[in-house]
Amino acid sequence: MAVADFYTKINLQYSSQLSYVSTRLSYSRRVSLRPLPRPHNSRICCSVTSKEAQAPVFVNTEDPRKKPDCYGVFCLTYDLTAEEETKSWKKLINIAVSGAAGMISNHLLFKLASGEVFGPDQPISLKLLGSERSLQALEGVAMELEDSLFPLLREVSIGIDSYEVFQDADWALLIGAKPRGPGMERAGLLDINGQIFAEQGKALNAVASRNVKVIVVGNPCNTNALICLKNAPDIPAKNFHALTRLDENRAKCQLALKAGVFYDKVSNMTIWGNHSTTQVPDFLNAKINGIPVKEVIKDTKWLEEEFTEMVQMRGGILIKKWGRSSAASTAVSIVDAIRSLVTPTPEGDWFSSGVYTAGNPYGIEEDIVFSMPCRSKGDGDYELVEDVIFDDFLRSRIKKTEAELLAEKRCVAHLTGEGIAVCDLPGDTMLPGEM
Ligand code: LMR
Repeated sequence: MAVADFYTKINLQYSSQLSYVSTRLSYSRRVSLRPLPRPHNSRICCSVTSKEAQAPVFVNTEDPRKKPDCYGVFCLTYDLTAEEETKSWKKLINIAVSGAAGMISNHLLFKLASGEVFGPDQPISLKLLGSERSLQALEGVAMELEDSLFPLLREVSIGIDSYEVFQDADWALLIGAKPRGPGMERAGLLDINGQIFAEQGKALNAVASRNVKVIVVGNPCNTNALICLKNAPDIPAKNFHALTRLDENRAKCQLALKAGVFYDKVSNMTIWGNHSTTQVPDFLNAKINGIPVKEVIKDTKWLEEEFTEMVQMRGGILIKKWGRSSAASTAVSIVDAIRSLVTPTPEGDWFSSGVYTAGNPYGIEEDIVFSMPCRSKGDGDYELVEDVIFDDFLRSRIKKTEAELLAEKRCVAHLTGEGIAVCDLPGDTMLPGEM
C-alpha cells in the first residue's frame, strides 16, 4: 500500500524548540524530536481527515524532554514489509547535506530523493544540517520531502549539531557557508568559513563513515575543502572534493555556443585550480566532436580572453541578474559531480574536480586542493588523468591560480594545524561572484 494511504495526521508540536528531528520511512514511520530548552508551542496538521486513517496513530503528549528517542510529538507506524520484499534495493546510504535550508539544497534534495543521482535501486537517508536560525525552514524542507512520497527516501533527519547529523554519513555535501558581506575582507571570509569547515572536518572525522566522500560547495570551496580534510586525518584526503563542476559546465556551454553545436558535443573539459576568478578553463585539451577545440574554434584571442573571462566571471554576472548566487545550476552541477564518481567515466573523457594535489603528475604544488582532470570507474573513487598537454599560456595561468591557492592556504594556517596564519592574498583574489 502506498505511503500516502497510510499518511493520516501529523501533529508537530514544539516545532521551534527542536534541535533534532528524525523521520523514518522504512518499516516504521517515525519522527523524533529533541527539544532545545526554549518553551514554545506550534502545531502543523496534515489535511487528511481522520476517517481515512489506515495506520495506528500515536500522539505522545508527554513532555518531550523526558524521552530520549521517539517521543513528544507523534509516532506513526506503517507496515511496509511487503513493499520492501518485492524490491531488490541496494543497502541504504546516508547522505548528509549542510546548508540544507538554503536555495541550492532546495533544488538538490529533491533530485537526490528522486533517485536520479544514485540510481533507481538505491534507497537513501537524508541527514540535513542547518543552523538554529534555519531550523523552522529545515522542518519545512523535511515536510516537503515527506509530502513528495519518494519511494527511495527512507529517512529524513534534521539537526544543528554536525556530530549528530554526520553520523555514519557515506556522502557529505557541504553547502552551507557565509557569503561575503559588505565591508568584509576576503581574509575575514576565509577565517569565518574556515572555522565552519574545520569544525565539520572534525565532526566527519569523529562520526562519518571511514570512506565518506565529501563535496565542498561553500566558498571559498578549495580552501574550505583543504581545511576540512586537514581536520579529518582519519578520512583519506583523496575523498575530499571542491566543486568546480559548475565551472566545467559553464565552459562547455560557452564553447558549444561559439562552435554552434549542442553542448553534449564538448568533452575533455578541465577547469584547473581555484573556484575563483583565477580558474583556468582549459581549451587546449578540450574537444568538440572529438576534435581539439583549437582546430574547431580558430580564434585564439577569443579563447584566451573572452572565453576564459566569461567562465571566470559567470557567477558574478549571475549574481547581478538574480540578486543572489546561482542555485539551480549549482545543484545540477553537484548532481553531475556525484554521478561522475558513481558511474564509470566514458572512455577517453574526463571530468573536473577540486582534489588534493598530493602525488599529482602535473607538477602542481603539493598539499592544496586544486581542480584537475579526473576519471572514475564508478566506485566513488577517481584517478587523475595523465594524458593532458600543456603550452606556455596554460602553464602561466595554472601558476597564477596555484599562487592564489597557496596564499589562501597561508591565510588559514591556524585552521589547518600549520601554525600562524599570514595573509598576503593577491589583490585579484576573488570568488566568481565578486566583481
Ligand atoms: C558561482 O560560481 O556561481 C558562485 O560560486 C558565485 C559566488 O561567489 O557565490
